[in-house]
Amino acid sequence: MSAASKPVTVAVTGGAGMMATLLRPYLAEAGYAVRLLDLVAPGRLDTSEAVYVGSVTDSEFMDHALAGADAVIHLGGLHREKTWAELVSTNITGTQVTLEAARRNGVGRVLLASSTHAVGFHPTHAASSARVLAPRPDTYYGVSKAAMEALGSLYADKYGMKVVSARIGTGGERPENSRTLGSWLSPADSFRLVQATLSDAGAPGHHVVWAVSANTRGWANLEAGRAIGFEPQDDAEAYAAGVDTGVENAHAGLLGGAWTAPGHRVGMDNYPHLGAK
Ligand SMILES: NC(=O)c1ccc[n+]([C@@H]2O[C@H](COP(=O)([O-])OP(=O)(O)OC[C@H]3O[C@@H](n4cnc5c(N)ncnc54)[C@H](O)[C@@H]3O)[C@@H](O)[C@H]2O)c1
Repeated sequence: MSAASKPVTVAVTGGAGMMATLLRPYLAEAGYAVRLLDLVAPGRLDTSEAVYVGSVTDSEFMDHALAGADAVIHLGGLHREKTWAELVSTNITGTQVTLEAARRNGVGRVLLASSTHAVGFHPTHAASSARVLAPRPDTYYGVSKAAMEALGSLYADKYGMKVVSARIGTGGERPENSRTLGSWLSPADSFRLVQATLSDAGAPGHHVVWAVSANTRGWANLEAGRAIGFEPQDDAEAYAAGVDTGVENAHAGLLGGAWTAPGHRVGMDNYPHLGAK
């Protein structure tokens, strides 16, 4: 293959996880060369995919995995409440190591998987009016995501990178309960967000955006996303008839839902039934 037709190389941390698994077919279809970085190897690879097994906390591994890449989609880490030590190591240090390896290797585009829980104690209605909400975490997990965003801001300002901190609502193949009818991010829209990160719109700089679909019941202000070319197309409403209306997962009209409730204890694994996932 000639240098001119060299495909864009996208490194995806957490490449064996749920969000990455839903995203991968879109990356393959678009013709990207994809590197899947994770502690474990994902199964059934496309010919455009390569696997890198290691930790986002390991600088040497990350240097090797990001050499020659054009962008990093940083999904690797812990996706729910854990102990402070676990979250600091995996989510905060893991993000710092990823950004530092990106900088060292001249990777100028980074998408960071932040979360609603970075701003969980804001009232839900505030997310409609404010273009970008200031951090107001609801858990140590939320603090780790606020720290992730702060690191993204530092690397964008200091080194001229384009870093998108995407406050993901709820990923998944389809919305599963009443709450996610407002917060769902479809797999296709997660791919649109990757494309926006790769585009020149809004570059360089740090961009905090809502990563949610164009949901009829959505509460997210999509302006900041539009400024980088992220225009979600899907709507959770298409699945409304099939969702579990018994699970509201809401609390006091706050963005973090049940995670803001007193029973959801800081530093504790509140979902032991989910096992090691
Ligand atoms: N799924 C959602 O609804 C949602 C919402 C908001 C934010 N997010 C964020 O998006 C990201 C992906 O979420 P997910 O639902 O796919 O989670 P997931 O748990 O399915 O995937 C995360 C992946 O990261 C890997 N990982 C963990 N520690 C690692 C390490 N030290 N080095 C390398 N890889 C490591 C895991 O093995 C796993 O495959 C997470 O950062 C999560 O916090 C997800």
